Amino acid sequence: MRTYPMLGLLPQFSRDPVNTLVRLAQEQGGVAVLPLGPRRLYLVTSPTGVQHILKDHAANYIKGRTMDVPRPLLGENLVSAEGETWHRLRRLVQPAFSRRRLLNTVDTIAGTVEEFFPQWDTLADQRTPTDVVHLMMEVTLAIIARIMFSVDILEEEERLLNAFNDAMHALNRIAWSPWPRLSSLYVRSHPTFRKAKATLDEVVYRIIRSRRASGAERSDLLDLLMKAKDPETGEQLGDEELRNQALTVFLAGHETTALALSWTWYLLSTHPQVDREFRAEVQEVLGERPFTREDVDRLTYTRMVIDEVLRLYPSVWVTARDAVAEDQIDGVRIPAGARVIVSPYVTHRNPDLWPAPEAFDPERFRNGVPQDLPPFAYYPFSGGPRKCLGYFLAPLEMTVILALVARRYQLALVPGYPVRARPVLTLRPHPGVYMWLERTG
Ligand code: HEM
Repeated sequence: MRTYPMLGLLPQFSRDPVNTLVRLAQEQGGVAVLPLGPRRLYLVTSPTGVQHILKDHAANYIKGRTMDVPRPLLGENLVSAEGETWHRLRRLVQPAFSRRRLLNTVDTIAGTVEEFFPQWDTLADQRTPTDVVHLMMEVTLAIIARIMFSVDILEEEERLLNAFNDAMHALNRIAWSPWPRLSSLYVRSHPTFRKAKATLDEVVYRIIRSRRASGAERSDLLDLLMKAKDPETGEQLGDEELRNQALTVFLAGHETTALALSWTWYLLSTHPQVDREFRAEVQEVLGERPFTREDVDRLTYTRMVIDEVLRLYPSVWVTARDAVAEDQIDGVRIPAGARVIVSPYVTHRNPDLWPAPEAFDPERFRNGVPQDLPPFAYYPFSGGPRKCLGYFLAPLEMTVILALVARRYQLALVPGYPVRARPVLTLRPHPGVYMWLERTG
């Protein structure tokens, strides 16, 4: 690839970040150098290198200044925290993510999905081309609000989703900027960002206030956060700390899952054979009866589809870390203070690991992740101590949504909108996934 004086790979990267990284790894291998203006980043995608960073030497690869990207919106939180503070937070919220508790939410998830159907029936009846990304965001946001905060936000979904969207676009400016501190200052003072943040603050603080006022006990995430006490001082989380944790889970808990679902509908509609097999399974397992928690494990082909979608389009397509001390990864020297980026998107498309990597083929996951692959050849939820907390919830939620929606609708792509992967922090289908909904029954 052509490297420009002063700019490095910035021109190509700004035009097409995803394919620039894929090509860079093809040219340089599992540990590559990515020059972006005055910055020199290291792109690590070999399974051994990724394991080194995320698991075996995780203590040397901290979130550090990489968290300057989400900080203007989320402040200090579970995703950004390190050391003992992070340990405490992670232990504290863990019960809200236990398998047992989440399986108990299947009815709530299913009920929430079905509440959207009357609206979607109208879209189907009027044959309105609809951006499925937006529909999926609406559903997953309503679900996370109910299962983690026991609140109903259906009335203000539009406002919230717009605010999240504006905030994500603003923060995206910081992520790859050659001058991140300057970009961060710019973003913090930008009216669109400030307005988005104010909207989100207003809603989250209202949820906190209203729970405090009601004194109600719910076995949800908000309850755990509100009751938590510092083991040394006995102090509880203040309003701002609560707000940061709550907003982080609101965001992490809806966006990524909605994008994965949108890519799923896109891939199913472009692969009719897979779509037929998936629908046959839903029909055979569910028939016309309500979804039950036992169905999650019975929908095995659906799970294969989800795994394959997350291989091709892992919503969190890159994660970044800062090296504390100098190190070697796969024989390449990493200087102290260097920024390393790890990309499941690139690893998942490495032809040495995944034959015909561009092909969408759920059969790859017939027996789970292929046994002959090394660890960290597949890591859509990251790995090591900072593995995604939603790694059980996300596929569970996706399974319920996919099955219930497929039972009621066929989704067909509207021609004339070529879809490509474009990151806005997370990996979005651009310009959206425009589809017609058709009632199946
Ligand atoms: C398909 C959906 C999802 C994908 C692909 C995904 C992916 C990831 C990845 C790759 C990370 C690690 C980031 C890093 O270390 O830099 C992460 C962290 C995290 N995710 Fe997810 N996620 C998904 C859904 C969810 C859901 C539904 C939740 C629920 C609230 C969630 C909550 C979190 C949290 C709290 C962390 C931070 C964990 C920590 O640092 O201890 N995620 N996610």
